[in-house]
Amino acid sequence: MSDTITTNYNQLRQQLADDRRFQFRDEHLCFEGVDLDALARKYPTPFFVFSEPEIVRNIREIEQAFAAHANTKTFFASKTCSVMGVLAAIRDAGICAEANSQFEVRKCLEIGFSGDQIVFNGVVKKPADLEYAIDNELYLINVDSLYELDHIDRISRKLKKVANVCVRVEPNVPSATHAELVTAFHAKSGLDLEQAEETCRRILEMPYVHLRGLHMHVGDQVPEAEPFAKATKVLVDESRRLEEVLGIKFDLINVGGGIPVPYKYDEKNGDPLKDNMYAGITAQDFADAVIGEVHKWRTDVQICIEPGRKVTGSAAVLLTEVACEKRKTNYDVNGNVECHVEWKFVDAGYSVLSDSQHFDWFFYVYNASRISAAHDEYIKLAGPLCDGGDYFHMGVKGEEFLLPQSTAPGDIVAFLDAGAYSIESQTVYNNRPRTAVVMIDNAGNDRLIRREDTYQDMVGYDIY
Ligand SMILES: Cc1ncc(COP(=O)(O)O)c(C=O)c1O
Repeated sequence: MSDTITTNYNQLRQQLADDRRFQFRDEHLCFEGVDLDALARKYPTPFFVFSEPEIVRNIREIEQAFAAHANTKTFFASKTCSVMGVLAAIRDAGICAEANSQFEVRKCLEIGFSGDQIVFNGVVKKPADLEYAIDNELYLINVDSLYELDHIDRISRKLKKVANVCVRVEPNVPSATHAELVTAFHAKSGLDLEQAEETCRRILEMPYVHLRGLHMHVGDQVPEAEPFAKATKVLVDESRRLEEVLGIKFDLINVGGGIPVPYKYDEKNGDPLKDNMYAGITAQDFADAVIGEVHKWRTDVQICIEPGRKVTGSAAVLLTEVACEKRKTNYDVNGNVECHVEWKFVDAGYSVLSDSQHFDWFFYVYNASRISAAHDEYIKLAGPLCDGGDYFHMGVKGEEFLLPQSTAPGDIVAFLDAGAYSIESQTVYNNRPRTAVVMIDNAGNDRLIRREDTYQDMVGYDIY
């Protein structure tokens, strides 16, 4: 049975063969030349597969977008994916790192970023975190509150070490992303714009605290350029004013992250402002919005950016095995048949891919073992967890997904574009292990860069 949704979905499936990441070979989906069905026989499912070439391509795309402003410094937001092998690939590609906790800073240092290649963000940085950051001479600490600033002053005097800081302000600009991903409007982060002057005045009196500029972050997966331009204008206007009233010159402006990733590719069929699974804009649009405003102020100032999702989002797939199937019947409360449901169960649920549940995130899902077959059977796709809600809610038609009719237990199903904020938010709910991660490197070789949790890992935390 073919309807518009099925036709569209299968057209997209066939276009995957032209996607820079994917190939079709012997009925199987390949990622950077590696057969995903075969890979899933080599490592235990579920697991994530990262592509180093795609990480590098994404970084080059961002760098190219900012070509009009040579003095741009890029910090990968390591909260997006802090698996050490991924951080190493990002370090090798030549950009810097952003961290949001002491351990993120530590991981970045351990993998070889130097202190002056790391920016430290966060609404709660406790004295021990700040001491660690100052001691390691980070490039920037983005000050999130006056309370935190007092600690920075005290600790930097104690250590007799310079703390380079930006003041994070809230530009008061909403954007059309998920409500929980908005960070520049009614947000908990940053200081009110009106507090910026007082904060800067205080910093200028602190002997070891060096003021470098203002910082903001508009939000994540923002599908339009306007909020970036608006918010940058707010920062630029305030920076210009502060330079005048305080008689100083800022070194930089830090505009945060937020470049979106396409999770739905058929943009002609959707409106990014209503459904931000369409990216709406590119890295170039983001860069143009930012640079356009900054250049109205100064061309000699450094622009810092903190992209996360754009670097790793498209660079990974989740592989999960069809582990069970059944046909069930939905009845109404009087016992009358409403409909039949074809259930396919995979070995990854929302403990593995929490965005699917938490944010109703959409992912393309294809049968990697039968990629050449028409995906024409509507099914519901469930995970292994005990909760009734552990099924994937955002299908191609309501809660339904499309897979080939021949799909059977043992087949490998791939969730595309699963590389951002996924591994970081895994849990061991139901005592299911957090997954392994495999990297396909620039030479096209696969290797394990994280093993899955073992039983010993799980009980090892408990003291009894
Ligand atoms: C301060 C800050 N910078 C950068 C980022 C990265 O955002 P994105 O992954 O959308 O680029 C975040 C994400 O939450 C953030 O909070």
